[in-house]
Amino acid sequence: MTNAHGGSLIKLYADGDQLLAEKEKAQSNVSWDLTARQMFDIELLLNGAFSPLTGYLSQTDYDSVVTSMRLDNGILWPIPINLDVSETFAAELTKGDEITLRDPEGVVIANLTVIDMWAPDKKLEAEQVFGTTDTTHPGVSKLLNDTNAVYLGGTLVGVTPPLHYDFGQYRRDPHELRAHFKKQGLNKVIAFQTRNPIHKAHVIMMKRLMAKHQANLVIHTAVGLTKPGDIDHFCRVRCYEKIVDKFPAGSAEISFLPLAMRMAGPREALWHAIIRQNYGFSHFIVGRDHAGPGRNNHGGLFYGATDAQELVSSLESELNIQILKAPFLRYVEGRGEFCEEHELMSGEAGLYLSGGELKQLLIDGAEIPSWFSFPEVIEELNRTLPPRSKQGFTLFFTGLSGSGKSTLANGVMVKLREMGGRQVSLLDGDVVRKNLSSELTFSKEHRNLNIERIGYVASEITKNGGVAVCAPIAPFAATRQTVRRMIESVGAYIEVHVSTPIEVCEARDRKGFYAMARAGKIKGFTGIDSPYEEPENPQLRIDTSQHDMSEAVDLVIDELIRNGLLGESK
Ligand code: PPS
Repeated sequence: MTNAHGGSLIKLYADGDQLLAEKEKAQSNVSWDLTARQMFDIELLLNGAFSPLTGYLSQTDYDSVVTSMRLDNGILWPIPINLDVSETFAAELTKGDEITLRDPEGVVIANLTVIDMWAPDKKLEAEQVFGTTDTTHPGVSKLLNDTNAVYLGGTLVGVTPPLHYDFGQYRRDPHELRAHFKKQGLNKVIAFQTRNPIHKAHVIMMKRLMAKHQANLVIHTAVGLTKPGDIDHFCRVRCYEKIVDKFPAGSAEISFLPLAMRMAGPREALWHAIIRQNYGFSHFIVGRDHAGPGRNNHGGLFYGATDAQELVSSLESELNIQILKAPFLRYVEGRGEFCEEHELMSGEAGLYLSGGELKQLLIDGAEIPSWFSFPEVIEELNRTLPPRSKQGFTLFFTGLSGSGKSTLANGVMVKLREMGGRQVSLLDGDVVRKNLSSELTFSKEHRNLNIERIGYVASEITKNGGVAVCAPIAPFAATRQTVRRMIESVGAYIEVHVSTPIEVCEARDRKGFYAMARAGKIKGFTGIDSPYEEPENPQLRIDTSQHDMSEAVDLVIDELIRNGLLGESK
């Protein structure tokens, strides 16, 4: 069977007496709670999928990986793997310390001996690894906006494998998958990497490669973090289960790769190939625009469509896995078959649907063409991804005290209830402060926490198909942006700026707070001695001094209809 990358397949878990000793040390070590991304990275470090790594990269290895895609000893390794921690946490550490890494519930996953600790140049990392510092790239955004300031390097000893409750039958680590291939007598197995549902063109492409190389196939799907907004793996796996039946009996199966993807295109494709070599595959399919994140700010692709295939093929001699370039198939209506680009005759335009186009058709509730996919896959997708008019969404009103947010939010909620068919929850500023945030003050920090709590609750409501109507002041743009991101990963987010001028709000002074603030009896009152940062691009701006309430409610409902969020007419 294929050698592991760098020579031998790593396994970092302790057992026997060493395990008992590691557990004991964990009781007195300083602990770090791993984030979702870090949980996936550590799983693949500990089980050998990231062989030859035996822990987080040292600073010398990191520098070398960033600039030349190689470890300091020259072995290919394209993606930095480090434990990012906060400056406050790092301030308490010294090189040589041992710390304990725990999952979000506090279970001890591993002990780490820290050999290096430094503040990385993240911009340089972004330029080198992703080829851009454009934060519309999800990997760059994660690195620049959501990665802690200090990187740790060091060696790991595993204590408990991360626990997963779902699809146990598809979870095989590199050692187990290799043993499975051996038991089945399989020495030629192709890995197909995917983070999307599989359709007819993919099946034909894979069958062609299987026949050509006389090999079996594993849909080795990424089930860690993929591109934000992707169809979740629960739905995808149900689709793959229908797809396995399309191959000759016993020639194709499903297995999971709990990978936190970076969407780093060519470098990521190389990483994927190395990982598959470690899992014991003989062949790896590199697709068009492999692990690319789609379009950039200017509408172009971040990476050339064949960049990944070219990079990985050019380094194939340093790998122990055969690289297969996936042909790009299009459907030719006149012939009723799929063709590769070079098989198209002049004047023949092949049909093709991108993942994004498919998702749009599903959201619009439109028909998915039968040439594109299998009826049972379409049925499964429709079951999980109802049209937009049946999906959850958050309607977020922001504005000064007295601007009319609550009245408008209540008016819209009642209207939605009158229209029926939707479950609506109102998260009004005052009500939230009583029920969810009663201990919070009006300091900037507490206001942000208050809004993040509202965002969390709204995202849960939205994820589960409900409508969350929020009406806090939410004076800070950055926090509103955080909430937007939180919601948009699970559904639609509509921001309405209730832009009633402060003079009008103050003249209304329904609660008498403006007068008290002017008299200095309330400190830090928004608009008086605490700022309100106006939204730059809300979907809607409504000045309630210019519209009566029923007009204002209609403006909001019209906007929801325009966004396809309400099926029925008013
Ligand atoms: S925030 O900034 O979003 O956390 O505010 P929010 O939770 O929406 O709470 C706003 C309501 O609290 C009352 N109140 C104050 N508002 C602003 N600044 C200060 N210092 C303050 N102190 C009390 C006020 O009644 C707000 O209600 P609305 O409905 O906006 O008038």
